[in-house]
Amino acid sequence: MTSILGIETSCDETGVAVFDTRRGLLSEALFSQIALHAEHGGVVPELASRDHVRRLSGLVEQALAEAGVERTDVIAYTAGPGLVGALMVGAAFATGLATAWNVGVIPVHHMEGHLLAPLMSGQAPAFPFVALLVSGGHTLLVQVDGIGRYSLLGQTRDDAVGEAFDKTAKLLGLGYPGGPAVARLAMAGDPARFRLPRPMLDKPGLDFSFSGLKTAVYLLAQDEPDAQADIARAFEEAVVETLATKCARALEAAGCRDLLIAGGVAANTRLREALSALPGIRLHTPPLALCTDNGAMIAYAGALRLGDAIAAPTAMHARARWPLDTLAPPAGLT
Ligand code: KG4
Ligand code: ZN
Repeated sequence: MTSILGIETSCDETGVAVFDTRRGLLSEALFSQIALHAEHGGVVPELASRDHVRRLSGLVEQALAEAGVERTDVIAYTAGPGLVGALMVGAAFATGLATAWNVGVIPVHHMEGHLLAPLMSGQAPAFPFVALLVSGGHTLLVQVDGIGRYSLLGQTRDDAVGEAFDKTAKLLGLGYPGGPAVARLAMAGDPARFRLPRPMLDKPGLDFSFSGLKTAVYLLAQDEPDAQADIARAFEEAVVETLATKCARALEAAGCRDLLIAGGVAANTRLREALSALPGIRLHTPPLALCTDNGAMIAYAGALRLGDAIAAPTAMHARARWPLDTLAPPAGLT
């Protein structure tokens, strides 16, 4: 039995959790910086770093108290990819606390955290499966053959899907974060009124491109300033159809039926509907609270990578860029 403290600070959420390999998730504490960044219309990296500094120790105390423990056997923290200043706050805190407690640390890949989170609630398929990871910073189609055995099938060449939602929200005068706001407005929109391009659907391959779609939204919003809801709907339809079509192709290429979706955009209802309607597919969706950034997914990824723990950490790890397919299986696992 091993207890793990998980620390997530890669972007605009300070997430902390305690996970126990026998008893499961013991506690969770989360502070979202949304209100802090909302007035700037997007995440301001320096403000994010400073707020992680402010919140982290209080959240850790809260999570430990709720779990009924004074310390854990190991500390897992998000080491990347993400905003480097924000990552460094979590890395420094985790490394310092681990030194004080005399325990090891596990630097966790943020996207692996998203990817493995559904396993925690028993909602993931058996390996191999295909995963669609869609967040504010990433759009990845990955073939998952095991923990740390990831092949990249496709990725975005420019904007991430969540970023496209956020930028569209800005163009339509909606608040930050854009995803939920655009999705809400789109519900009232007419899907037949406008048709926006489906980027890269006519090309072979599984890569995505969303920056052209953003320009199309911009031009349409200029021409039709009173059609906000219909534009939001047209945008969502274009994104959802593009993602669904590529997912179908990815499953065919990988020769499997199981698709797992994770990351913030996986909370999108229309996307879930469209994916579950694909013929022959078995769709696996994590609970909404596990889709967006949280500490539990980092603690859990740490639990699956105990073999990678660094016993007496002397260095901290913070990588703004860190390709998912460079990960290896956990030590001791083949
Ligand atoms: O995974 P996440 O919480 O943070 C990152 O690692 O980026 O994802 C946040 C992204 C934001 O771009 C947000 O607008 C988007 O997920 N998002 C949504 C929805 N909820 C969150 N996009 C579309 N529909 C939603 N319901
Ligand atoms: Zn994320």
